[in-house]
Amino acid sequence: MFYTTRSILLFAILGLGACEPNGPTAAPPDAGIATPEFLIVPASLGTPLRTLSGAQRRQFEMGRVVFSTVFTPQTGLGPLFNSVGCANCHEQPVVGGSGNNDPAEGGEDVEVHATAFHAGARCDDLAAVGGPVIQKQVTPALSDALHITSEPIPAAATDSGHRTTPDLFGFGLLDAVPDAEILARADPFDRNGDGISGRPNRTADGRLGRFGRKAQAATLREFNRDAFVMEMGITNPGNQTEQTVGGMPLPAGVDPLPEPEISAEQFNAADAFVRFLAPPPRAPAGLAGLLGSAVFRRIGCAACHVPVLFTGFNRNPALRFQVVPAFTDLLLHDMGPDLADICLGQALPSEFRTEPLMGLRFATAFLHDGRAATIRQAIELHAGEALGARNRFLRLSDFERAVLMRFLRSL
Ligand code: HEC
Ligand code: HEC
Repeated sequence: MFYTTRSILLFAILGLGACEPNGPTAAPPDAGIATPEFLIVPASLGTPLRTLSGAQRRQFEMGRVVFSTVFTPQTGLGPLFNSVGCANCHEQPVVGGSGNNDPAEGGEDVEVHATAFHAGARCDDLAAVGGPVIQKQVTPALSDALHITSEPIPAAATDSGHRTTPDLFGFGLLDAVPDAEILARADPFDRNGDGISGRPNRTADGRLGRFGRKAQAATLREFNRDAFVMEMGITNPGNQTEQTVGGMPLPAGVDPLPEPEISAEQFNAADAFVRFLAPPPRAPAGLAGLLGSAVFRRIGCAACHVPVLFTGFNRNPALRFQVVPAFTDLLLHDMGPDLADICLGQALPSEFRTEPLMGLRFATAFLHDGRAATIRQAIELHAGEALGARNRFLRLSDFERAVLMRFLRSL
């Protein structure tokens, strides 16, 4: 057999990191104290930001309990719901992580969303007939009353799509990025002529959107507030309206608990848990990872997957002037007709928020509906504004592609 110098270099570089652990670091969060510098491990997965005060850390721990609570009809679950607790979906590899999105295992944490899109009109999120999240389960009481086992997709819907459960590590820092930093990268008319024209989503009252695959929600607090209701049917002080079937009043007796079904203290703790989850530690990737990050920038991935954002001033000292290695611009991009599904807010069916790549190595299914089984397939399915970057990816040499993959698997 004959080896080129290039392939020998490839083996040498990739071999460097072959036995590095890829899973979450198992060390306890404070293992760094009094340890020599070279032994200090980064904060492990599912632990809080290191900048928290003692009181915030206690609220984070209390929030993990609320986030992990399994609700029953007796404690407020339903009558319509997708799952019994936040951590029943956001569970892998630790609480706060992604869902079981693997189609081979049934994709039990994959949801159905539906809206109505009529050209020229504002996107209809079907609020009048049950909202965009279609609940897959109902409590026995509702099932007995209406003889259904899930919420039917409203007749008014024009499109529906699947959504895998993403991880939430570092999302509190994304909440703290100032609007101005995100808007500075928007280029809706592609004035710089690079083929990429990111634009912000906006809520009905005009605020910048950043959470959800279509950047439909403006703040983490609002997303969490609505997640309790839409995912579990748990009303809370910020959202006291149960989900309905087709907008009809719920039959008598199917929602025995008075609203709100959790207290402000419980909600605030769960919100703090999500907000204070630290970004995932990077896996070491050695020289190959370094070369791969240069390829990532050169072929234009970083034009949308912006490597770092900054939080700026924040009332909360724990979130103030922090670096977020999120690999997103939080803007919407047209990804072409094949990925298109529903509209949401100002996002057209083909527009998606640049998916943050932090935590990528823990994902088991890729793209908004999990249709890509590998990172490579996910890149090959990029089209629309990302077509140029995808084509440059396809033209990479084996060596360049190998180091790029090494880099992506370290995120
Ligand atoms: C049935 C599974 C399921 C449950 C239960 C669930 N989630 Fe999620 N979560 C999802 C899915 C699916 C998405 C993606 C939604 C989208 O793209 O619009 C998501 C997205 C999120 C996001 C936004 C992430 C992003 O990418 O912007 C946050 C924050 C979140 N969930 C918090 C929670 C909280 C808090 C709870 C409990 C109150 C919860 N989730 C319960 C499935 C679930
Ligand atoms: C025009 C903006 C844009 C460019 C350029 C771009 N991406 Fe993306 N990327 C996106 C959007 C938007 C998504 C989410 C699409 C979806 O969920 O259907 C995404 C999703 C991904 C995902 C899947 C993440 C997940 O967890 O599901 C990977 C991996 C990825 N991009 C890598 C890359 C790489 C590598 C490049 C360079 C070759 C690149 N992207 C170029 C916008 C872009």
